[in-house]
Amino acid sequence: MRDQTKLSQRSWRELESDENLKQIGLASSSSKDLVSTQSTFFSLFPVSLSSPKKMTLPQHWDAWLSASIGELERGSRLRELRAVSPAHADATRVTVDAATLAAWRAATMDLGSGGGVSMPPRSGVVLPHSDPTTSRHQRSAMSTSTSGRRSGVAPNSTAVAVADDSMAVGLMMMNQPPSSASSSSLSPSLSTPTSTSTTTLTLFSTNDYLGLSTHPRVRQAASQAAASLGCGPRASALVPGAFTTAHRDLERALSRLKGTEDALLFPTGFAANAATMAALCGPVGKKNAEKNSSGAEERGEEELVIVFSDELNHASIVDGARLAARSSSLPSPSDPSSSSSPPPSPRVRIVIYPHNDIPYLDRDLSQVPRGARKLVVTDSLFSMDGDFADLPALCALRRKHGFLLVVDEAHATLVCGSRCGGGAAELFGVSSEIDVHVGTLSKAFGAHGGFAACSSRLRSLLANAGRPFAFSTALPAPAVAAALASLEVAAFESGVEGKELRDRVWRHARRVGEALGLRATSPIIPVFLGGEKEALAASGFLLDRGLHVPAIRPPTVPKGTSRLRISLSAAHSDEDVGRLIGALAELGLSAKGLSGRGSGGGGGRSKL
Ligand SMILES: Cc1ncc(COP(=O)(O)O)c(C=O)c1O
Repeated sequence: MRDQTKLSQRSWRELESDENLKQIGLASSSSKDLVSTQSTFFSLFPVSLSSPKKMTLPQHWDAWLSASIGELERGSRLRELRAVSPAHADATRVTVDAATLAAWRAATMDLGSGGGVSMPPRSGVVLPHSDPTTSRHQRSAMSTSTSGRRSGVAPNSTAVAVADDSMAVGLMMMNQPPSSASSSSLSPSLSTPTSTSTTTLTLFSTNDYLGLSTHPRVRQAASQAAASLGCGPRASALVPGAFTTAHRDLERALSRLKGTEDALLFPTGFAANAATMAALCGPVGKKNAEKNSSGAEERGEEELVIVFSDELNHASIVDGARLAARSSSLPSPSDPSSSSSPPPSPRVRIVIYPHNDIPYLDRDLSQVPRGARKLVVTDSLFSMDGDFADLPALCALRRKHGFLLVVDEAHATLVCGSRCGGGAAELFGVSSEIDVHVGTLSKAFGAHGGFAACSSRLRSLLANAGRPFAFSTALPAPAVAAALASLEVAAFESGVEGKELRDRVWRHARRVGEALGLRATSPIIPVFLGGEKEALAASGFLLDRGLHVPAIRPPTVPKGTSRLRISLSAAHSDEDVGRLIGALAELGLSAKGLSGRGSGGGGGRSKL
């Protein structure tokens, strides 16, 4: 073993002295060189090693893959990952090259087989077709669609401005002769944007609510941890070596934040929810299970688990619950009689209750068979609607019906709660009545990872029965250090900076809400536009003004509730917010234009 270590150390030293590595800048990889080294690395890497081999898929798989991708494409669900250059240490901006921007812009017009974007009958349209920015994006969008298709833009079309009678949200594509728009006919300068042409976009689309992802102390903590401890945690947290005292410190700090006995870290917030649901829905231990005459386990009512889940809950809760329900109806592999007997009836049942409908939940809970285990799970701050679960009412129901209450505070932790940003539970003063507080380190923490804060006994169960915890690699040290630093800044350290950051993001939220004539209930402000076309066109319009505000549409939200999702950050300046408000007003989205529309109130039902 020792020899092996020596060998690998020697090999690495030899490699470091290798002329090839020196040439590509890897032999002296000081952290300051790292970013530039990466691009040099790929440009110098021998072509023969980097050029991909075309794989032939096994029979049936090729046709299946094409059909699946085609279906996504036809439904405008085929999204591409587009890399942007992060602006230096600025949580709210990115630099985008012209081709990427054009592709994004094209995506905002992409409605698949429905054809080009057409305007809803609204007035005050503001996109003069001579607007140089718009025209440039329009032309390049049509010529640079990365998939080679026309991004849903009607063939032979070009952009013109429209003026109609209520609200301006985009562009109408009108048929034109082929020569005016086909990519082959466009001049090279339009069809191939130069790499030097870049645009800086201000993002109203991140979950970095306090701007901590680029806070100097957070960055410093992460880089110091990487320099002293390395990056890869090497194994699951259950394997000695991967779970360090820094991990444990972070868990303790998180339990302090949430006022719980303990906490457990997960690789992501998704894994935290999936593992929590799976572990809590697990069967009663073998000892308690009765055996019937044939030796098979007989399920008593105490085996039944009923999960009540808000219809707008995050996908990770939905998938975690489904996984638990599905596994509970599979025959046990260790049961010799299972192959001959019919599959057992599901031991875990899921009840989806209408969003925040407490009387409905109360009624349903009253009908649960005696002895069954009941669990209610909800987001605290709903990510696409910006409204809160009625936690005080849920806690009152918990007292009445005796269920386990799991609350996902992914979007509320560090954002809500005037004492230390402990989340919506702190805001509503109900922390001690929540059994499991799930959270993520990837939103307001500006780091990465997930956690569940709970009792020590529950922590022990989650760590041992939550497969997404046990069978996944632990959090990397730099992420742990970054999250700890965020906690110090935002929650514990004399509280001043954290309070200022929270005050700032809430002030932005109030200002945008007032400008829109809505009561903004959180830094997530949805502006409901109904149709996908309207939401995409509005998003494209804002993109043309250097503002990224995503259009959220089915399947993420239910049909007919497509919206702009504005997310605000303490890192936004007052001027950034002013620009957003100005651009929204140009679209007719202002206190005057929006009266009668809703925001922050559970605008629709998700497809569960
Ligand atoms: C409510 C909610 N829970 C959980 C998650 C998952 O967190 P993570 O991104 O850390 O996996 C998200 C992320 O989008 C979320 O919005």
